[in-house]
Amino acid sequence: MGLLRDFIKKITHPFLRKGAEFYYRKPRSYSYNGITTIVHPDVFPPHLTLSTKILLDFMSDIDLTQKTFLELGCGSGIISLYASQKRATVTASDINKTALAYLQKASTENKLPVTCVYSNLFEALQEKHFDYIFINPPYYPKAPESTKQHAWFCGEEFEYFEALFKQLPIYLSEENTTYMILSEDCELEKIESIASKNDIVMKTIFTTKKVGEKNYIFAISQK
Ligand SMILES: C[S@@+](CC[C@H](N)C(=O)[O-])C[C@H]1O[C@@H](n2cnc3c(N)ncnc32)[C@H](O)[C@@H]1O
Repeated sequence: MGLLRDFIKKITHPFLRKGAEFYYRKPRSYSYNGITTIVHPDVFPPHLTLSTKILLDFMSDIDLTQKTFLELGCGSGIISLYASQKRATVTASDINKTALAYLQKASTENKLPVTCVYSNLFEALQEKHFDYIFINPPYYPKAPESTKQHAWFCGEEFEYFEALFKQLPIYLSEENTTYMILSEDCELEKIESIASKNDIVMKTIFTTKKVGEKNYIFAISQK
């Protein structure tokens, strides 16, 4: 198991390692539950990474009918499309314009409505309430040097999380459910300390171990 995990890490972490670069040198399709998206090389790849699939499977038991749903940092948008298939009213946001353009196309082709918004975190979002918010954040502490790298790197000083936890409180309420996925590979204590500084509580509600790597889904709420 250790060897397999090391192999997966070698090709996926950090993303720009040669194996992944070769695989993602051209757009690749990705399918889930009858929905197909095309993932551009500049967009976070759900194929070889674990987090997207874990969130998709986790969503399957949630009744999203007539719920408002935000995928903050949507990447390929497969999570948004699945939420739309589950009859939610979906907003997908990202700072990656290529991701949004491909998702817009997939939304039309799959006949699954998704409102795509170019936004740095919550900055350009008009809505101030979502029943559900799903976040699969970048978490490696390095400054992103390109749009593509924003999928992986949260800034040397965890600037992504500093900004996220500052902006998030107005979206958190009794009526809202916010989930974030993180891996044991990231600096969990540091991220939790940034949350705590902003009066935000991260409660582990789901843990899974795949190819030797533990992933956690946290419910995010206000203290
Ligand atoms: C780890 S990827 C997850 C993509 C997708 N949600 C999934 O689960 O497959 C993180 C995404 O967040 C986006 N992102 C990073 N920083 C952002 C920011 N400040 N505002 C909006 N999106 C951001 C990245 O461009 C990337 O698409």
